Amino acid sequence: MKAIILAGGQGTRLYPMTTVISKQLLPVYDKPMIYYPLSIPLLMGLRDILLISTPQALPMYRQLLGDGSQLGVNICYAVQEEPRGLAQSLLIGERFIDGDQICLILGDNIFYGHSLTSVLTDTWSGLEGASIFGYPVKDPQAYGVVEFDRENRVLSLEEKPKKPKSNYAVPGLYFYENSAIQIARQIQPSPRGELEITAVNQEYLRRNRLKVTLLGRGIAWLDTGTPEGMLKASEYVEAVQSRQGFYISCIEEIAWRRGFITSEQLERIGQAAKSTDYGKYILSLIGG
Ligand code: G1P
Repeated sequence: MKAIILAGGQGTRLYPMTTVISKQLLPVYDKPMIYYPLSIPLLMGLRDILLISTPQALPMYRQLLGDGSQLGVNICYAVQEEPRGLAQSLLIGERFIDGDQICLILGDNIFYGHSLTSVLTDTWSGLEGASIFGYPVKDPQAYGVVEFDRENRVLSLEEKPKKPKSNYAVPGLYFYENSAIQIARQIQPSPRGELEITAVNQEYLRRNRLKVTLLGRGIAWLDTGTPEGMLKASEYVEAVQSRQGFYISCIEEIAWRRGFITSEQLERIGQAAKSTDYGKYILSLIGG
């Protein structure tokens, strides 16, 4: 399985000019937003990662993350010229994916929780067709929404419905067999001019090849699509980190714990950033 992280110019609910100043480069509390979705493939042990962004922002991502070797992974880059939808990332990533399965992650989604890694790896190991998640929210209108029957079978999927049939939103984390690329090629742009990922998921539902796993209270899914969402996410990260002392989505820590980098490599990263709390945290890991 290979990972695609889409940090394009989709979604202008945060502020104008998101194509120029990619919002995923802005900090959520103490680290760039992109670190949070990047922690997902690292936690899963996926070492081939394609980052897709706008032509303007891509050079900044390259500077920030390089080729991934400092994390013991392989990070490639591709441009999304125009924000034409999440499903377009499957087409942009086709060569990189090279026939493999796909983990697609949205660059502005944050996941955190106790059993997250096991939920992700279970979902991956049982993958047939497409596997997505459902998460209860108070404002499902802003998302893809999944409807179930009494036996938890999926009845429908709708993108940003005015009258949602449930309060289960579909987070921006999707697992696909390679067939998703063919499906993405066949779907038509929505009224907002985007190739909707929900249309891909609807096709898997039609084929009876869609699995939806409900995420419960133990996992936090935070959306940073609006100014309030960003502020709340920063407050959440600050609250958990300062209380527990563990960092959320410290990508260097995850890479080290997974054995992708050595303690010496981790120490070099910590030393280079030792004037910051982030650097001090990294150094404390080695000491501990
Ligand atoms: C996108 C998807 C939507 C999903 C959401 C998760 O919405 O289209 O189905 O629920 O991401 O963040 P967008 O960010 O394009 O508004």
